[in-house]
Amino acid sequence: MRGWNFSAGPAAIPEEVISEVRNELLEYDDSGASIIEISHRTKLYTSLVSEIKKDLIEILDIPDTHEVLFLQGGATYQFSMIPMNFRNISENADYVVSGTWSKKAASEAEKLIKVNVIASSEDSKFSHFPSFEEWKITNNSAYIHYCPNETMQGIALHKTPDFNKNIVADMTSVILSQPLDVSKYSLIYAGAQKNIGPAGLAVVIIEKNFMNQANTNLSKILQYREHSKADSMFNTPPTFAWYVAGKVFKWIKKSGGLGYFKNANIKKATLLYEYLDSTDFYINNIQKNQRSIMNVTFELANEALNKNFIKESTSKNLLNLKGHALVGGMRASIYNAMPVEGVRELIQFMKEFESKYG
Ligand SMILES: Cc1ncc(COP(=O)(O)O)c(C=O)c1O
Repeated sequence: MRGWNFSAGPAAIPEEVISEVRNELLEYDDSGASIIEISHRTKLYTSLVSEIKKDLIEILDIPDTHEVLFLQGGATYQFSMIPMNFRNISENADYVVSGTWSKKAASEAEKLIKVNVIASSEDSKFSHFPSFEEWKITNNSAYIHYCPNETMQGIALHKTPDFNKNIVADMTSVILSQPLDVSKYSLIYAGAQKNIGPAGLAVVIIEKNFMNQANTNLSKILQYREHSKADSMFNTPPTFAWYVAGKVFKWIKKSGGLGYFKNANIKKATLLYEYLDSTDFYINNIQKNQRSIMNVTFELANEALNKNFIKESTSKNLLNLKGHALVGGMRASIYNAMPVEGVRELIQFMKEFESKYG
């Protein structure tokens, strides 16, 4: 029996999508073979992925100024690919450190470019997200990198940057959760395993002008431009993950697009945060306007109850609520595929747990 899956990633995929995949796994579209057995060079596959790209462009309303790439290596690969490609624009780049993921991005970049940490909330254990006013932007930096939704801390910056600079954003855990003004970014990247589909794929949305300024003195596989020239098929792509992502995009369109998901996601997060704020049994100290709508983190005031919480929630089919090992506590990731009913069941369980142990 499938449970309510609150995993941070790889995360829940809409059941409808998984059923469809199961139904067509043995033979895809009268081809006599499974989708995982056919070449990425076949007409069948190339026309499939060209439709997938079109769907993503439609969903996110991506302007012609930007290219969309489907790459391998997850989001972590981008931590290195970005500085390697753009260190020829300038020897230094600006990084905002607002949580574990942006810290990792900055520390990987340090090996490849001079990193200016232009704002950091590390001293306060990432309990707030540095506002734009706190960013001490450097004049000649190649780009500004930030992570608008810190998956581990459950903290987010809900405003869109509007600077005359190349803005690079790690949107791994927030992409497709709501409409996005892509034009404000020079590069957006996301590992697929949250709102896009299975792991093994990363989406990169890159401004063509920015891409064309990138370093050409790199192996081809490291260059965005080469991936663009090859329609994201510079080498064999993760064909299965890409195909499933395409099904998720169709599901997003059919459900009503990102406007629909924005409302649904805000509703789910509000229900959960309102409950957390109504009790001292659970704690979330993040400023209200900086709380993530995708990853809701909380602690139990009595940490000795953590084990019981996990054990009892799991037995009620509320899965994967344990926070990241680096951060501790609990985390309910409520991406697009989590229906409001799952969140209601979680709250019901949390209330019962509180009355049992509170
Ligand atoms: C915000 C963010 N950035 C980067 C990563 C790393 O992604 P990957 O494992 O695809 O490299 C994650 C993974 O959860 C993430 O949440």
